[in-house]
Amino acid sequence: MNKTPNQLLVIFGASGDLTERKLIPALFSLFKGGHLPEKFGVLGVSRSKGSDSSFREQVVLNNNHIPDTIGNHGLRKEFADRIFYQGLEASYDSDYSRLGERIDGLDREIGSQGNHIFYLSTPPALYETIARNLHACALTSDNGGWKRLVVEKPFGYDLDSARELNTSLQKYFRESQIYRIDHYLGKETVQNLLVTRFANSIFEPLWNRNYIRHVEITSAESVGVGKRGGYYDRAGALRDMFQNHLLQIVSLVVMEPPIGAEPEEIRNEKVKALKSLRIMRDPEVIKQHTIRGQYLAGSCEGESVVGYREEAGVDPNSTTETYAAIKFFVDNWRWAGVPFYVRTAKRMPTKVTEVVIHFKTPHHQIFRNSEMQNKDNKLIIRIQPNEGMLIKFGVKVPGQGFEVSRANLDFYYSNLPGGKVMEAYERLLLDVMQGDATLYARADEVEAAWEFVDPILTYWEEGSEVVTYGYSAGVWGPKNADELIEGSFGWRNPGEHLTDDPAFCVIT
Ligand code: BG6
Repeated sequence: MNKTPNQLLVIFGASGDLTERKLIPALFSLFKGGHLPEKFGVLGVSRSKGSDSSFREQVVLNNNHIPDTIGNHGLRKEFADRIFYQGLEASYDSDYSRLGERIDGLDREIGSQGNHIFYLSTPPALYETIARNLHACALTSDNGGWKRLVVEKPFGYDLDSARELNTSLQKYFRESQIYRIDHYLGKETVQNLLVTRFANSIFEPLWNRNYIRHVEITSAESVGVGKRGGYYDRAGALRDMFQNHLLQIVSLVVMEPPIGAEPEEIRNEKVKALKSLRIMRDPEVIKQHTIRGQYLAGSCEGESVVGYREEAGVDPNSTTETYAAIKFFVDNWRWAGVPFYVRTAKRMPTKVTEVVIHFKTPHHQIFRNSEMQNKDNKLIIRIQPNEGMLIKFGVKVPGQGFEVSRANLDFYYSNLPGGKVMEAYERLLLDVMQGDATLYARADEVEAAWEFVDPILTYWEEGSEVVTYGYSAGVWGPKNADELIEGSFGWRNPGEHLTDDPAFCVIT
């Protein structure tokens, strides 16, 4: 295991939900697993007044997101002693000299040796302000210890704002100091896409236009927008999930084999993959290749739920999409002519994310009257839940003649012996502490993703013939969703379990 140097993690926006829900529980888990360096501290920073002890109470001692197991009781107290708080007591746009003094003091007190991570968990509008003020107080300089900046999503609102943000952050930090987080890259099963493809010799030879008919990616959630209606109504599914998490998955499916596993080697290939997505500029093409939907009241996982427009913080006349399905092509040698279908939505029947590789049917059909006729081989990579992989293939039904039926060959992560699987935030925090940027997005990567998404957003926002279809909460999206897929295949509407294959669902 790599060595993690002594350091101080400074979280801006520390009173926000992410700190309590994700960051501190992930750090606690790293602490419990013995992954934190000997000399390590967390300094929470936000506008409000507060003390070390009140912050420790809030984010560690009384935090319900840290599992209340017996083994955790003593450790909580020990971990809490490493947590500190500094209120800016004004705005984020102020003089950070006092903050600088506190950081120096903590360096001496805990021995963090001038190694600092600044984690921005504030609204994105403050990212540049914070970077500028840190720089003004010489807190970004690598003299006397390294400095890193972690930036949460959303990274930009569109291509122009993402470019602006890159330019302004790069005024104060070098690109190699900036870590743009996408928590999907912290998921083991997302990383396993690389291993499946490049550590085996059985998949890669088939991974191209000669053998693959189409690729399908689904990221469904059964939850609605919850308390985030205000944010979500300005964002929509395309910005919230597709531009970042789903295009990251796409880049791992599409990319060419990197020369090696060094961060820049992998990131170079991912950028190349994103740049090879065919950008749809013609409104007619966008109209034909995209479906936009919004959930109506219905029933989800046995509970009656309200429609999107009735959610708190949402405009009652909103046309923001909670369902987005996009068909696109990849313009390179490997993928020419292979359609990709990617969808994401809230208030679906279940929470599931998976990649489905549909192989072409055999060039010559011998067993014509069998069940396999016109059924394709599929490789299903289940990202969550019930993480694993499934191959669907034809087998002979015992008995006379050649009746063929479809069988499943499945593998589950949970069957692997050994180590606990780290949560996405644990893994990503540990990586940035060790200076490994492999699972973080580079500036050009984020811009390439926006470049693809931007014309769709513009058309959806300004096009005269744009339709937002309603779908009842708890069904697999709008009624016409299958029409996007060429041929008679339709979407694979997965169940909670990897081998579940529900053919359709009931509209309530
Ligand atoms: C976040 C989105 O980035 O990812 C949320 O903002 C979404 O809207 C969440 O619910 C999904 O993440 P996960 O890890 O639960 O699939």
